[in-house]
Amino acid sequence: MKILVTGGLGFIGSHVVVELQEQGYEVIAVDNLSNTSKEVVDQIASITGVQPTFEELDLREKESVVNFFDRHNDIGGIIHFAASKAVGESVENPLLYYENNVNALVLLLQQVQDRELGFIFSSSCTVYGQADELPITESAPIKPAESPYGNTKQIGEEIIRDTCRVKPNLSAIALRYFNPIGAHESAKIGELPLGVPQNLVPYITQTAIGVREQLSVFGDDYPTRDGTAIRDYIHVVDLAKAHVAALQRLIEKSANDNFEVFNVGTGTGSTVMEVVRAFEKSTGQPLNYKIVDRREGDVVAAYAQTDKAQRVLGWKSKYSLEEALASAWAWEQQVRSRKN
Ligand code: WQD
Repeated sequence: MKILVTGGLGFIGSHVVVELQEQGYEVIAVDNLSNTSKEVVDQIASITGVQPTFEELDLREKESVVNFFDRHNDIGGIIHFAASKAVGESVENPLLYYENNVNALVLLLQQVQDRELGFIFSSSCTVYGQADELPITESAPIKPAESPYGNTKQIGEEIIRDTCRVKPNLSAIALRYFNPIGAHESAKIGELPLGVPQNLVPYITQTAIGVREQLSVFGDDYPTRDGTAIRDYIHVVDLAKAHVAALQRLIEKSANDNFEVFNVGTGTGSTVMEVVRAFEKSTGQPLNYKIVDRREGDVVAAYAQTDKAQRVLGWKSKYSLEEALASAWAWEQQVRSRKN
């Protein structure tokens, strides 16, 4: 069965392509290369021994998208990663996010709405905003989005839900990621550092390797055990395996509802300082950091209740925070050695 992975050369997409190939799926990856590079195809092949089919494709270009699906009518599943994902950038440039994350999704669904296939949507825990109860369950209320990025994920889930309601041949799962970190053990794929990292862990590894001067810890006056904000950091390979488990459920058609939502996290919250200390412990690299003011829009705490994914998908995260951070460090060292 051929599986289409949009954004398949991206950070999470590339890790999912590896896991799919290792489970024997035939994969076709598409990407517009706006936030990655084509060499990722070769890196994936060097890990799995199988060259994924790759086509450069921008899902905002209707003619190209229609042409793609005219040529590929044997796709059994779609895993849709292609989207813009920087929260801050989405505030500055909302229309870019609504075009790339919403218009493109509509265009994609219009091509496949009458086909019999499974569709997995890359959603995010940002849909919960600051949840009233922790850990966060899938039935937690969806809060007004804190950014256009988060809004595109909420809208995306609603578009898919409404489409599945009238298209019984289409079955979909939205995976609400918590905080993906780390890299494949081979250190051949990871989060490509393009520009100044917005996320904590790439900023930590770039500080440790000397690309950044000092990590700024955004606030230590939160109502948490050490004053810094809490998140659920999940190894990207654990996250990738959750996609394979979700795909298998869609292929088996074992769900009685053709639209389901699952949290994908570890179920454990870590403060920013706990991540800093865990990084220093697992890598032996002391970290230069300072405490600064809170970042606008950050929630105090978010970590997942993961029982549903375990019960229904038979999936649970396996890597520890230290293992994930060590893999992020190995990737950073690999990236820098390739650049020199
Ligand atoms: C984590 C914690 C920061 C950087 C966002 C998106 C989410 C997903 C992951 C795309 C927070 C603190 C960070 C730094 C810091 N993205 N921090 N210094 O904001 O939880 O989630 O990225 O899918 O959708 O919302 O992740 O890594 O930016 O921040 O102190 O230099 O680290 O304040 O508490 P976040 P993050």
